[in-house]
Amino acid sequence: MVSNTYLLKLAKDYGCPAYVYDLNTITKKFKILLKTLPASCKIFYAAKALTNPTILNHVRSLGCNLDASSIYEVHHALKAGFLAEQIIYTSNGIHFDEIKDAIAAGVFVNIDSLSNLEKFGKYFGSTKPLGIRLRPNILDGGNLKISTGHGRSKFGIPIEQLDQILYLKEKYQLKILALHNHTGSELKLKSFSLTAALFLKLLKHFDDVKYIDFGGGFKVPYSPTDMAFSIPNLAKLILEFQEKLFKKYKKKYEFWFEPGKYLVAESGFLLAKINVIKYNPEQTIIGLNTGFNHLIRPMFYQAYHPIFPLKKRLGKSQNYTIVGNLCETDTFAENRLLSPLKENDIVAFGNAGAYGYEMGSRYNSRPYPIQIAVHNKKSWIISKEGT
Ligand SMILES: Cc1ncc(COP(=O)(O)O)c(C=O)c1O
Repeated sequence: MVSNTYLLKLAKDYGCPAYVYDLNTITKKFKILLKTLPASCKIFYAAKALTNPTILNHVRSLGCNLDASSIYEVHHALKAGFLAEQIIYTSNGIHFDEIKDAIAAGVFVNIDSLSNLEKFGKYFGSTKPLGIRLRPNILDGGNLKISTGHGRSKFGIPIEQLDQILYLKEKYQLKILALHNHTGSELKLKSFSLTAALFLKLLKHFDDVKYIDFGGGFKVPYSPTDMAFSIPNLAKLILEFQEKLFKKYKKKYEFWFEPGKYLVAESGFLLAKINVIKYNPEQTIIGLNTGFNHLIRPMFYQAYHPIFPLKKRLGKSQNYTIVGNLCETDTFAENRLLSPLKENDIVAFGNAGAYGYEMGSRYNSRPYPIQIAVHNKKSWIISKEGT
């Protein structure tokens, strides 16, 4: 792992705010998966966590496959050298045109609505294979915002609509090769077992299925009290599930996983400089030269990120409230016990690799909205992506 001294050097050499990614950490995490999970498992990096081309290239060089959640991510992945057959595209709430583009690019698509399933059938019939993303009504995820499998979630086709899926499958002779589900961004072993039990029952309706996709969501510890998701325990459950499947269907399936956070979260640091310190009566406020436009997780998800000074000053530690420089409430953390801080010191946010840069300054998986000005019934574009 990169040392604080090295991070400080980077902050001095390049300036900050800056995101720093340690590629060795990504390698280490991928190798753990490779070594621990059964050979029947295939890993697809959920690129939505971080789509930077260098990161994609590195992930590809490790032999990992890729899970895209938009056509833009598909194109980024192809540009980074992934082969189309290494990419799956789990669509969500998108126009059918994007599915056509993904099929034209040669990637495997998981469909997540009855509406797009019908369109897929009409347009492609049995000529192209597909997967189905189901909503199993299993509550998972650290909080509701990252919980995607429950009964009010917008993701996937509700399991109650199985009859309609089967009707469309028959009507268009759909070649369904994968059943997909992602219960949330903090998968619990219990949820894996519940989903596995559901798939075990459902597979009797899907003779063509070869791949069972459990999505991502392997938790990494963010706060000191967080527990990491146990990959060895998951491996045991997969082996048990594999046995049950074989007993019931006399067939070997491939198991797909789409980790994002697990592979890249711990590789990333956001470095920021202390602009100003306010010694207020109630609290001491540390104002950084960054804001939620660079790291939104604390404000949006109430997510905890480790924050630490890169140079530890001698003296008594004290509680600090750490905020950004936006003219908005952008609190990163409250009551953090840290060694004494001074203006112009550099602090680092840990675990900033996943959904950090990506959800902030450059949310890369969708185009930016253009901005249009209107004046006296005339309109014109005032900014486009990248301007
Ligand atoms: C379909 C799907 N797969 C994979 C992931 C990756 O999740 P995580 O980064 O928690 O592993 C997500 C996250 O939202 C997802 O929606």
